[in-house]
Amino acid sequence: MSDVKEFDIYLRDVANGPGAGAVLCALADIEDGKGREFRYGTDKEPFEFFVYRRGGEIFAYQNACPHMYVPLNLKEGVFTEKSGQYFLCNFHGALFQVEDGLCMAGPCRGRSLQSVAVGLEDGRIIVL
Ligand code: FES
Repeated sequence: MSDVKEFDIYLRDVANGPGAGAVLCALADIEDGKGREFRYGTDKEPFEFFVYRRGGEIFAYQNACPHMYVPLNLKEGVFTEKSGQYFLCNFHGALFQVEDGLCMAGPCRGRSLQSVAVGLEDGRIIVL
C-alpha cells in the first residue's frame, strides 16, 4: 500500500493559487479546534477553503457543502459542532467526518467535502 496521500484539489490548479511549498501560515496561528479560511481564485470564481487544527494535526477542505455548495460556517473559524467530532454545515445541519470529509448525516449523506492538498513542515502549513 502506498503512503502517498492524494487530495481532491491541488492549489496549483486553482486560479491565482499558490505553488507547492508556499507557506499559508504557522500551525500556531490556528487555535486548536478551530479553522482558518483562505481564499484564492478570481472574483467571478472564488476558491475558498479552510484548514482545521486538531492538536498537532491539520485537515483542509474546500469550504463548500456538497448539498448546495455554500460555505459550511457562519462564524469565522468555527467549523464543528459543539463536541468537535464533526464539521457542521450551518445551513441544513449536515455532519462531516473531520478525518476524511465524508458526510455522515444530513441531506448530502454519503458525499464528501473536497480535500485540499496542504501539509505540515516545521510547524508551518504549506501547500503540497
Ligand atoms: S447546504 Fe449544507 S446541508 Fe444544505
